[in-house]
Amino acid sequence: MDFNFSEEQLAVRDAARDFAKTELLAGVIERDEEQKFPLEQVKKMGELGFLGMMVDPKYGGGGMDTVSYVLAMEEISKIDASASVCMSVNNSLVCWGLEKYGTEAQKEKYLTPLAKGEIWGAFCLSEPEAGSDATSQRTTAEDKGDYYLLNGNKNWITNGNTASVYLVFAQTDKEKKHKGINCLILEKGQEGFIVGKKENKLGIRGSDTHSLGFTDVKVPKENRLGEDGEGFKIAMKTLDGGRIGIASQALGIASGALELAIQYSKERKAFGKPIHQHQGIAFKLSEMATNIEAARMLCLQAAFLKDQGKDYSKASAMAKLFASKIAMESTVEAVQIHGGYGFVKEYHVERLMRDAKITQIYEGTSEIQKIVISRELMND
Ligand code: CAA
Repeated sequence: MDFNFSEEQLAVRDAARDFAKTELLAGVIERDEEQKFPLEQVKKMGELGFLGMMVDPKYGGGGMDTVSYVLAMEEISKIDASASVCMSVNNSLVCWGLEKYGTEAQKEKYLTPLAKGEIWGAFCLSEPEAGSDATSQRTTAEDKGDYYLLNGNKNWITNGNTASVYLVFAQTDKEKKHKGINCLILEKGQEGFIVGKKENKLGIRGSDTHSLGFTDVKVPKENRLGEDGEGFKIAMKTLDGGRIGIASQALGIASGALELAIQYSKERKAFGKPIHQHQGIAFKLSEMATNIEAARMLCLQAAFLKDQGKDYSKASAMAKLFASKIAMESTVEAVQIHGGYGFVKEYHVERLMRDAKITQIYEGTSEIQKIVISRELMND
């Protein structure tokens, strides 16, 4: 692995850092409090190319590598994880699958506006009774000849209300178990497709998380992504890359908390000196920084393997497992370092602590990452 970033990669990182500071920071506390989706900010992210970073330019994307994506995700997540989850889902879970498995017609119609950031998408796998156990899909896509009849419900869908394109996983042939699952491309506003309640969440409160309902939605056959019965494999492969995005989000939450803690510990004085000169605080900061650097290496390694066309299932699961743990630990420490100020909203660290928790849950809980890693270890 090359530890030197290219000029292009550094320019992407700097652009993301600049965008986060100038466009996302103002109002982030209010958006969190009011559960307000950062609509204007996400539109700007689209204009700047952050929503379709890795897609081939011939489909309107940025043609960048995954390392650049990790760098950008970290910077955006330092400031606003509600905006970065929208970015991660569109890049990793929606655009990637469409580019890898889509027909030319699907790429032209759906991928191109998604990659240009004119619209964004949602990935609809989780159900009320199928979260970790993703093979147990209850949503059905009955084969009716030239269309599928879609019925069922999805839960905890990121971008649930603001998305324009939805990748929906559903069971077509129950007998075939996971080999009978299909992935269908849906458009917002299709008859029988209802956006349900918005979740009132602990963290990433600005993100747009909804349940979805489908009643006799007619989805034309040409909107099936991949081959008949290939849906579950598409979901698993897609999540391998999605986990790099969420690992980088966790990394950004952790490094954002560290930056705030360093700044505060230089300004805040206690017992006659800045608090970083007390060993108790210095040790905390050193440990946070070391863990964050290790998490960064795992994120970059997973991205590097993906860019090299090598297998990255284990690496992305390891990156997500470790970075999300570090995000939780670092944000708790950042609140502790801030003392009473850490417990109030103006200092940002309490929000980062709440946001960190979801990184241990979505796109596979930490326990799911351990299952993926242990299976890969047995196959090595
Ligand atoms: N790549 C390709 N194929 C894969 C794969 C991968 N990474 N992982 C599994 N498969 C294949 C297997 O090879 C197997 O295929 P065959 O039958 O042809 O051999 C098939 O898929 C079934 O695999 P398993 O037997 O391993 O399946 P399982 O039921 O034991 O489950 C699991 C495996 C890893 C636990 C999986 O169910 C899983 O990842 N669950 C978590 C789902 C998840 O992350 N949900 C998050 C929802 S998305 C979200 O949160 C988005 C958001 O809005 C932010």
